[in-house]
Amino acid sequence: MADVLKKVLLEPSEISGRVSEMAGAISRDYAGREILVIGVLKGAFVFMADLIRALSIPCQTDFIRAASYGAGTESSGKIAITKDIEMDVAGRDVLVVEDILDSGLTLRYIVDALKLRNPRSVKVCAFLDKRKRRKVHFEADYVGYTMEDGFVVGYGLDFNEQYRFLPGVYVLDPAPEGEKEANE
Ligand code: PRP
Repeated sequence: MADVLKKVLLEPSEISGRVSEMAGAISRDYAGREILVIGVLKGAFVFMADLIRALSIPCQTDFIRAASYGAGTESSGKIAITKDIEMDVAGRDVLVVEDILDSGLTLRYIVDALKLRNPRSVKVCAFLDKRKRRKVHFEADYVGYTMEDGFVVGYGLDFNEQYRFLPGVYVLDPAPEGEKEANE
């Protein structure tokens, strides 16, 4: 495992500090209110667990899962919700939490779908933002780190379901040829 994780991008201590800052900003923006935090499975669960525990406002939690489908999944741009939330968002202040914002297709679809259900507000918090890879216009309201292209794992992020458990974020490099193809 360790031989493919060539570079630590974010140490756990650095992540902890940044998550506290983000939670502080969110708590200030929603002061006096209770928010409904919706994590996008699977990757967001680690970040979300840290984030909600650093908030100084009350929150409720739920989860949603989306997947791309069709031929050449990423390029097809077709997204479907494969596990919906169980709570009613009507009238609620919703904060959608993601581990990584890439093409923007997943969050564009999820946010649009949630807005149809009459929430009071919908904002998005992404731990990582790969801005240059956007295929649709999408801006998160809270971003932990903006990063260049490159495949990262850890802190909830996976490669073939591996590495989510790592407390830091690592650049997965160099990948064997088969893995490189899978990453693109
Ligand atoms: C990742 C990530 C986002 C999405 C971002 O999920 O967690 O949900 O891709 O990509 P986009 O901006 O190009 O839509 P993934 O499909 O890898 O599932 P996972 O969270 O279960 O690992």
